[in-house]
Amino acid sequence: MHIGLIGGTGAGLFSPLGDSGCVVEQVQIQTAFAIDPVVITEWQAYGHRVLFIPRHGPNAQTPPHKVNYRAHIAALKQAGVEQIIALNAVGGITAAGGAPGTLTIPDQYIDYTYGREHTFYDGQQMQHCADLGLSESLQHVECNRPLDAALRSALLQAAVTAGIGVSAAGTCAVMQGPRLETAAEINKLERDGCDVVGMTLAPEAGLAAEAGLPYACIAGVVNCAAGRAPIDGEGQQQSIHEQLDEWVAACMTCLLYTSDAADEEDSGDL
Ligand code: HPA
Repeated sequence: MHIGLIGGTGAGLFSPLGDSGCVVEQVQIQTAFAIDPVVITEWQAYGHRVLFIPRHGPNAQTPPHKVNYRAHIAALKQAGVEQIIALNAVGGITAAGGAPGTLTIPDQYIDYTYGREHTFYDGQQMQHCADLGLSESLQHVECNRPLDAALRSALLQAAVTAGIGVSAAGTCAVMQGPRLETAAEINKLERDGCDVVGMTLAPEAGLAAEAGLPYACIAGVVNCAAGRAPIDGEGQQQSIHEQLDEWVAACMTCLLYTSDAADEEDSGDL
């Protein structure tokens, strides 16, 4: 199976080589959606071919609203991946969303972003849909269940096997960024039914749906959302950046164990 892996914050900590000494190759895929080719790092793990894209670029410099999501999904599709696992850093809003240092496998999201290229069917470049094996006529892709159930349950099983705290479902709010939210915005997101908040699940998941690729997200909860950190004995709340310093590496370790367990189980779903 060819598995696309898109890494977010902390992707630099994702070392495909690990200790296994597997052979890593870099390939460049030219798409119709970017001048430069997309660089994909590929390696073999437990009989699967993993094709990895660091979402924010090789130096983690591309902000969430400037990521070329279309080029990434197109490149993975052109490279022959059959499903995509996205790694996303999120802030926790509700108890169901999970505490910092745990993982959440959302089943829904709400897209609050704007101005991002969010579709292959934009009326202008639709001839390029053929490169992706898609119809060149306008399609309204269903997004009732935007995150693939079989892939989600395989990831959940992997997290359980790896002994990692994981929330099995939840709704992810996708904010424009790059600034973090106000406490009032987080209160509104909770009223909207959101459990965690990030900046990158959309339009990535919708583009994967348009490309016909099963897609699921493992979200690492790296902080309590704005205004939600516990108050310490001196009446202080940790800032979000202090929390990120504490939790990003821990979450990446959980993600690595989970992806290893997922590969090792070789469940047939993956
Ligand atoms: N808000 C939005 N995006 C995020 C957060 C957050 O609190 N943490 C990690 N990504």
